[in-house]
Amino acid sequence: MVDVERLWRRLSDLAEVGKQESGGVTRLSFTDEERAAKDLVASFMEDAGLLVREDATGNLFGRREGKDPDAPAVLVGSHVDSVVGGGNFDGPLGVLAGIEVAQTMEERGVETVRPVEVVAFTDEEGARFSFGMIGSRALAGTLSEEELKHEDEAGISIADAMRDRGLHPGRIGEAARPQDSLAAYLELHIEQGRVLESEGLPVGVVTGIAAPVWRRLVFTGETGHAGTTPMKLRRDALAAAAEVAAVVEQEASAAGSSVGTVGQLGVEPGGINIIPGRVELSLDLRDIDEGTRDLVEDRILKRARALCERRGVGFETEVLQRMTPVSCSETVRGAVRAACEGLGLRTYDLASGAAHDGMQLVGLCPVGMIFIRSKDGVSHNPEEWSSKEDCAGGTNVLYHATLDLASRQR
Ligand code: GLV
Ligand code: MN
Ligand code: MN
Repeated sequence: MVDVERLWRRLSDLAEVGKQESGGVTRLSFTDEERAAKDLVASFMEDAGLLVREDATGNLFGRREGKDPDAPAVLVGSHVDSVVGGGNFDGPLGVLAGIEVAQTMEERGVETVRPVEVVAFTDEEGARFSFGMIGSRALAGTLSEEELKHEDEAGISIADAMRDRGLHPGRIGEAARPQDSLAAYLELHIEQGRVLESEGLPVGVVTGIAAPVWRRLVFTGETGHAGTTPMKLRRDALAAAAEVAAVVEQEASAAGSSVGTVGQLGVEPGGINIIPGRVELSLDLRDIDEGTRDLVEDRILKRARALCERRGVGFETEVLQRMTPVSCSETVRGAVRAACEGLGLRTYDLASGAAHDGMQLVGLCPVGMIFIRSKDGVSHNPEEWSSKEDCAGGTNVLYHATLDLASRQR
């Protein structure tokens, strides 16, 4: 069994980095807070006896050799960046549990055939640049220099942010792992939903991951005096955008399995007595079924264009990122199921509504995930919580599944 007190202590220590008054954390990618989080995690990796290194995009790795150092490694981990005002478990649990797994192997003198590597990926969340999974895309060799042009709110591009951290955007290709270099990727994560809690179960086996499409929607109307412009003569960009936000809710609800969110709203000029002339909305739309998601997206855009035309408001939209839903590997799911059974836990299959780095890696190696129960399903929120017992349970499942996958002959 893993050392739950050590795991819990490390989770608490990491929660101090980028801590907000709300009790949650803000650790955006390539900031001092994210750097400090990676430094702390690197020190934990060193304590665990792992060989620590960072790649060309800042992905942090800790490696434990196997009997066959040339065998493809089993990669476990997650991320340490967060959304603005995020919780203390989304990401850190998977990284720290991975270290705990490797350290427990070390302390028990366990020898595996395959190396085990623990990773803290760079920018899973996409919270800074509205474009995420930068590190895992790079590992899969799919990150392009063009994609490094995405900018944050201050107009700083990913490439510039990398340069500020001493990383070279022109060298992202060096982070790519060759085909057949990884035997599997396995991530422990909080569920961030209510399914396990409602089933009364601590742990679940992830079957697949729903995929988001992220868009920016821009509405252009006419700025004017709030007191002198009659209602019928207005071209109010915010009134149009508000109608579209309601359309997002209607269309996603009508599809049943889809979820649609407008999480960002920018209003210009933003005066109490000025009719809004320009509005930007974000759209996050997801489904485990790509066809359904794309159909809902089409419906939303069609209705948005029609209602903007009726209002005389300009409408433009661009895709920020579009992901494809993935199925988890049968091999990795089997190892997780066997680990659950060995620990006397009921195996329970569920899909992930949240996106995860594994989505980027399916072309590189078999991918799987383990979920643990989230309190009230709350996440991307300072109140995010999973109990110490459930973190320990999930980490023990991760230990046995990793041991199984790493013990297999090539
Ligand atoms: C990441 O947590 C996401 O699902 O957006
Ligand atoms: Mn996460
Ligand atoms: Mn998240």
